[in-house]
Amino acid sequence: MIPAELIKKKRNNQKLEKDELSEFISGYVKGTVPEYQMAAMLMAIYFNSMDPDEIDSLVTVMLESGERMNFSQMDRYVADKHSTGGVGDKVSIILGPLLAAAGLAIPMITGRSLGHTGGTLDKLETIPGLKTNLDLSEFKRQVQDVGIAMISQTDEICPADRMMYALRDVTGTVESIPLICGSIMSKKIAEGIQGLVSDVKTGNGAFMKTKERARKLGAALQRIGESFQITTDIVYSSMDQPLGRYAGLWCEIQESVAGLHGKGPEDTMTITYELGSRLLMQAKLAKSRAAAVTLQKNLIQSGAAYEIFLEMVQAQGGDPKVFDKNQEHHKARFEQIILASSSGIIQKMDTYRIGLATVELGCGRKKASDLIDPTAGIEFYHKIGAEVSKGDTIIRYFNSHESRLTAASRLLMNTFKIGDEAVEHELIFQ
Ligand code: URA
Repeated sequence: MIPAELIKKKRNNQKLEKDELSEFISGYVKGTVPEYQMAAMLMAIYFNSMDPDEIDSLVTVMLESGERMNFSQMDRYVADKHSTGGVGDKVSIILGPLLAAAGLAIPMITGRSLGHTGGTLDKLETIPGLKTNLDLSEFKRQVQDVGIAMISQTDEICPADRMMYALRDVTGTVESIPLICGSIMSKKIAEGIQGLVSDVKTGNGAFMKTKERARKLGAALQRIGESFQITTDIVYSSMDQPLGRYAGLWCEIQESVAGLHGKGPEDTMTITYELGSRLLMQAKLAKSRAAAVTLQKNLIQSGAAYEIFLEMVQAQGGDPKVFDKNQEHHKARFEQIILASSSGIIQKMDTYRIGLATVELGCGRKKASDLIDPTAGIEFYHKIGAEVSKGDTIIRYFNSHESRLTAASRLLMNTFKIGDEAVEHELIFQ
């Protein structure tokens, strides 16, 4: 294989065969195809996309770069959820333990921040001591003992996604349906799950900016899931504003813990229950959506879901005492606020710029070697449709690097549009 010939082939919008993708990607994982050639290939795929056969080959090749788990000996329904990426999306951290408390097994392989969107792994790693790079046997044992483990791609599981994901993040090649399908579905199929629910986000803070693109991605994810015998449900939800009251790192862990205590923000909990209901119905643990929501609320109220969260934290080496009352962790050294410049109703938010501001604050990476700042984040005081008066606080943002706080200020200016018209915001749609 001559890597440059395959790059040219995709650049010229020709179809890549499975064995060509296999040689190219396995060469990249082994180190014989350098990063600059993979970066060029990603850009060629970004511009010329892939047909369904090529997407299937990409998923298979990425999956085969590592091991595929097998949980067939378990007497629980083995399932997972994922989201196509957003700002303030902490649903996995609430829903994973909640579903494990309901009796499902959740072997979750998840990612770091990607582009302007936050990463579940980066958030989890702000819990002191918590490891996300478990090896296969530790991962399997924890899923059997606790019902859930949340880990990163490793050398054993989805190494191709681990490497391509980090490269896409810093080369402007994230928003590509084939690359998103390859990344998500290789991880999910490798988990050995029976059921999946996918939260496909759309709006100005999502990778899919329109409902039409979101539906195209949702249909592709569903087609791939079912072709690998995974029962797959798709939920479409809005990313026209951040989810919840916070977007950031440790602040999102705190907000997730509030959710597990029954004090989560309404939008976050609505999506959590919607996704959870799909899997509870797949698992035949609930006959209807209403019954599934009641079951989830009970598991939160009884403390069972939070207990599983603490067990998971402990099993992965984290210190559950950080969640004891009156403990203060990752306190940001600097903060600023933005005030409403006029009175009226919040019409719109520029969620993409808000996401870029989280990266600037230190929640994501501008280059692969960047360190992140666990203290960083943004608090949103209002949602679309809320009435504000001139001078009200709209957002508060914080971190522990003053110059990055100033840089984020420039991005956050004018991210809210205030006007006179009443606005409706649709969170979940068909
Ligand atoms: N989540 C992933 O795991 N990969 C993507 O490409 C997007 C969201």
